[in-house]
Amino acid sequence: MSLDAFLSELGQLTTDATAAFSAAADTESLESARVEFLGAKSGQLKTVQKGLGTVDKADKPLAGKSFNETKQKVEAAFEEAGSRLAGSAIRQEAADFDPTEPGRRTRIGHAHPITQTIEELKDIFGRLGFNVVEGPEIEDEWHNFEALNIPRSHPARDPLENFYLATATRHSDSPLLLRSQTSTVQIRVMENTPPPVRIVSLGRVYRPDTADATHYPMFHQIEGLLVDKQVTMADLKSVLRMLCSSYLGEDVHVRFRTSFFPFTEPSVEVDMSWHGGWIEMGGAGMVDPNVLRAVGYDPDEVIGFAFGLGVERLCARRHAVRDIREFYKNDARFLHQF
Ligand code: PHE
Repeated sequence: MSLDAFLSELGQLTTDATAAFSAAADTESLESARVEFLGAKSGQLKTVQKGLGTVDKADKPLAGKSFNETKQKVEAAFEEAGSRLAGSAIRQEAADFDPTEPGRRTRIGHAHPITQTIEELKDIFGRLGFNVVEGPEIEDEWHNFEALNIPRSHPARDPLENFYLATATRHSDSPLLLRSQTSTVQIRVMENTPPPVRIVSLGRVYRPDTADATHYPMFHQIEGLLVDKQVTMADLKSVLRMLCSSYLGEDVHVRFRTSFFPFTEPSVEVDMSWHGGWIEMGGAGMVDPNVLRAVGYDPDEVIGFAFGLGVERLCARRHAVRDIREFYKNDARFLHQF
């Protein structure tokens, strides 16, 4: 092949390839033009390259140099077409953008309904002048039972009714357990504070109950304790009624049913009437003199009331949740509603 013929093939290739690349309107047509001209197996550039071998030996350096230049030109034209298409995609996107459309809302989480309830109850009791205190979830038998006037023989201390910690006896003589009630905090506070006392404590308690619509092996209680010189059950009832109407937002009635707890005397079950039905909310009563003595208070000097209510029940009642297990499934569709 003569040098002229080879050079003219190169010229033609440059013209054709450049035209094809700049005509490509989308990435697919650019890709097929690339295969056609720059394809590694049978692209036109490859075909023309084969002619290089047939050029006269004396003309080879010039032919080779021209071939390389052509190759660079064609490749540059391809690159340029690529950036042109990318640019137009961005421009298209910008043209499609409608600043008057409502934005896409970022989904951020929120506090769990039980946590929301706890915060709200703390607020309500804060306004009534109660301090919020916390107690440990791992307890000893003194705070969970003994000081609360629950003797060793009491069925509530049965290992089958509690989560005793298997390893706990290693370092201390008193077995440890996950607290079964927040009444433990009454003891902890009174042991460290002289009367008067006005506290609430909200937290988890643990009981080996089978989970059903109203039970769960872990749940939350709100414990209240008020100790002063003159306290009556009427005060207890007023406080509970205030709590219920503040939390449920309506005029709720509170009913006391006689009951028994070792740490209160008299003891009552607390029911609330709301939207026409009575629901049991927890227990309450006047602090038993034995409990006051156990923490070093003088039952002839001070008197108090205490109550313990289920947080899940309050929350479920307010939001008409039928099954408290829903709170612990972590199904976002359920939780988003609160
Ligand atoms: N601790 C009791 C329970 O868990 C509730 C209670 C608290 C009763 C305070 C009386 C006084 O069932």
